[in-house]
Amino acid sequence: MNVKTVLNFDMMLNLLLFLAFAPSCIHSESEEQLLVGMTLVRNATAYGARCLDGSLPAYHLHRGFGAGANNWILQFEGGGWCNDVSSCLERAKTRRGSTRLMSKLELFSGILSNNASLNPDFYNWNRVKLRYCDGASFSGDSKFDNGTSLLYFRGQKIWEAIIHDLLPKGLASASKALLSGCSAGGLATFLHCDSLTNMLPSNASLKCLSDAGFFLDVRDMSSNYSMRSFYHDLVALQGIEKNLNQNCMRSINQPELYALQYITTPYFILNSAYDVFQFHHSLVPPSADLHGHWNSCKLNPAACDANQIDVLQGMRHDMLAALKSFYKNSTSGGLFINSCFAHCQSESRDTWFAADSPRIHNKTIAEAVGDWYFDRGVTKEIDCAYPCDSTCHNLIPSSPQIHSHPFHVSHHDSNSNPSTLLTPGHNGDRGVVDEASIEVVRRPRGDGQSLSFSSDGGDSTITMVVMVQNIVGPPPSTNLSWVR
Ligand SMILES: *[C@@H]1O[C@H](CO)[C@@H](O)[C@H](O)[C@H]1NC(C)=O
Ligand SMILES: *[C@@H]1O[C@H](CO)[C@@H](O)[C@H](O)[C@H]1NC(C)=O
Ligand SMILES: *[C@@H]1O[C@H](CO)[C@@H](O)[C@H](O)[C@H]1NC(C)=O
Ligand SMILES: *[C@@H]1O[C@H](CO)[C@@H](O)[C@H](O)[C@H]1NC(C)=O
Ligand SMILES: *[C@@H]1O[C@H](CO)[C@@H](O)[C@H](O)[C@H]1NC(C)=O
Ligand SMILES: *[C@@H]1O[C@H](CO)[C@@H](O)[C@H](O)[C@H]1NC(C)=O
Ligand SMILES: *[C@@H]1O[C@H](CO)[C@@H](O)[C@H](O)[C@H]1NC(C)=O
Ligand SMILES: *[C@@H]1O[C@H](CO)[C@@H](O)[C@H](O)[C@H]1NC(C)=O
Repeated sequence: MNVKTVLNFDMMLNLLLFLAFAPSCIHSESEEQLLVGMTLVRNATAYGARCLDGSLPAYHLHRGFGAGANNWILQFEGGGWCNDVSSCLERAKTRRGSTRLMSKLELFSGILSNNASLNPDFYNWNRVKLRYCDGASFSGDSKFDNGTSLLYFRGQKIWEAIIHDLLPKGLASASKALLSGCSAGGLATFLHCDSLTNMLPSNASLKCLSDAGFFLDVRDMSSNYSMRSFYHDLVALQGIEKNLNQNCMRSINQPELYALQYITTPYFILNSAYDVFQFHHSLVPPSADLHGHWNSCKLNPAACDANQIDVLQGMRHDMLAALKSFYKNSTSGGLFINSCFAHCQSESRDTWFAADSPRIHNKTIAEAVGDWYFDRGVTKEIDCAYPCDSTCHNLIPSSPQIHSHPFHVSHHDSNSNPSTLLTPGHNGDRGVVDEASIEVVRRPRGDGQSLSFSSDGGDSTITMVVMVQNIVGPPPSTNLSWVR
C-alpha cells in the first residue's frame, strides 16, 4: 500500500473510531421502563440493505407527542466492528450481525426516555433506535461471497433504507432533528451527520450528538497504532472509503487530521477523557500488555500506579489537544468531556439526567446537550483531570474473555451489596442486561497489530464493575493551561 493511501485511511480512521461495548444501562431502581418493539424494514432489499447474515434491517420507533410531535431523535445503536471475514462470519451468527437474533424489545432510557423528569428536552420527540447489524458503523457497501460463505457489508444501505422507511412516517416533515449514537454508533453519527441534512426538509433544523464516538489515533503501549490498523482493515473489508467525507479524503497533508472539521452540521461531542473502551483497546490493547501489568488498573483506576496514571493523563492530554481547535473555534459545536471512567453516557438514565449523574460545573449531560441544542447557554464543558470529579459513575467492563457460559453482570456500587447479580435470560427479556455489551476478542492476527472484535448477547462472559465515587489517585501530571 502506498503512503498516500495510508494517509487517506488515517484521516478517516481518526474520525472513524471505535466501538461500542456500551456498559450503558445499569439501573439501580426498579421503576417503570419503556420497552419499544422492533420494526423490520420490509422494503430494505429494494435498497440492497441487509444485515451481515442477510436478514432485514430494523429500528424501534416510539412516537412523539404534543410539542415534540414533529421532532425526531435518530439514535444509532453501537456495538463494535468486525474487520475481517472470519470475525464477521462469527458476528453474523450473533445479535450484532442479525436482526433474527436481536431482542425484539429495546429499553428506551436516557436520551430515549419518554419521561419528562428523566429526559426534559427530548422526552416528547419521536425517538428511534436504529439497530446495528452491519459491523461497520452503518458505512459499508460491499459483499463477501466465495461460493461457500456469504456476508453482506451494507451498512450504508441500511442507513438509507431506514431513513426512507421513516420519511413517510413523519420524518419528511420534521421540524427539529437530532442524530445521535454511542461508540460505533457515535462514529456513525459523525459519518452520517451531514448526509441526513439532505434527506430532511430544507427548513428542518438538524444537529448531531456523538457519544463516546471520538476515537483517538494514538499509539498503544507497544508503540503501535493498533486502532489505526484495525480501522484500516475495516475500511478495506467493507468498502467504506467511497462513503467517507470526500473533502476530508482529498485533504491528505496531515496524518493527524481528524474529519471533524469537515462536518458542517452543528455537532456535540460527548466523551470521557478516559474513555474505557479507548483505554482498554486503543491505548492498552491486550496485544500491548502480554503480561497483564495493566489488568488491575483497567478494572479499577484506584489500583493504577503512578506511571499508569501518567499514561492515562497523557490520553486525556491527547484528546484535549485533538479537540482544541473545535473547542476554541467552533461556534455551533458543543462539548462535554468529563473525567469519568466510562464509555457511553447518554443512553442511561443514571448518567444522563439523574440527581447523582455526572456533572461539570454542576451541569448534567442532559442539561449540557439541551442547552446546546436549544441555544440556551454555554455549550462547551471540559472537566478537571482525574481524580478531581466526585460525580463520576465509573463504568468499567472487564478485559475481554473468550468463554461460553451465560454472561452475567456484577453490579457493585457504594450503596449496594457488591455481589448483586443480574442474570439475563434470552435477548430482550431483560432489557437492562441486554444492554450490557459483550465483547469477545478473537484471534490476534499473525502480525500482532490488530485484533478482531466481535460481540454477542448470549454466550460470553463480561463482568461489569460499577464503582461510584471515592476514586483516589495522584494528581494530574499534564499541563493544560487552556482548560479550566
Ligand atoms: C421500496 O423501494 C423502492 C426502491 O427505492 C421504491 O421505489 C418503492 O417505492 C419502495 N416501496 C415502498 C412500499 O416503500
Ligand atoms: C418519571 O420519572 C419519575 C422520576 O423517576 C418517576 O417518579 C415517575 O413515576 C416517572 N413517570 C412515569 C410515567 O414513569
Ligand atoms: C470461503 O471463505 C471462508 C471463510 O474465509 C472459508 O472458510 C471457506 O473455506 C472459503 N471457501 C472457499 C470455497 O474458498
Ligand atoms: C417548513 O416548511 C413547510 C412548508 O412550507 C411548513 O409547513 C413547515 O411548517 C416548515 N417547518 C418549519 C420548522 O419551519
Ligand atoms: C482558531 O481560528 C483562528 C483563525 O482561523 C486560528 O488562527 C487559530 O489558530 C485557531 N485556533 C485553534 C486552537 O485552532
Ligand atoms: C447544582 O444544581 C442543582 C440542580 O440541578 C442545584 O440544586 C444545586 O444547588 C446546584 N449546586 C450548586 C453548587 O450550584
Ligand atoms: C508493533 O509493531 C512492531 C513493528 O511493526 C512489530 O514488530 C510488533 O510485533 C508490534 N507489536 C504488537 C504487540 O503489535
Ligand atoms: C502551564 O503552562 C502555562 C502556559 O504554557 C504556564 O504559564 C504555567 O506556568 C504552566 N503551569 C505549570 C504547573 O507548569
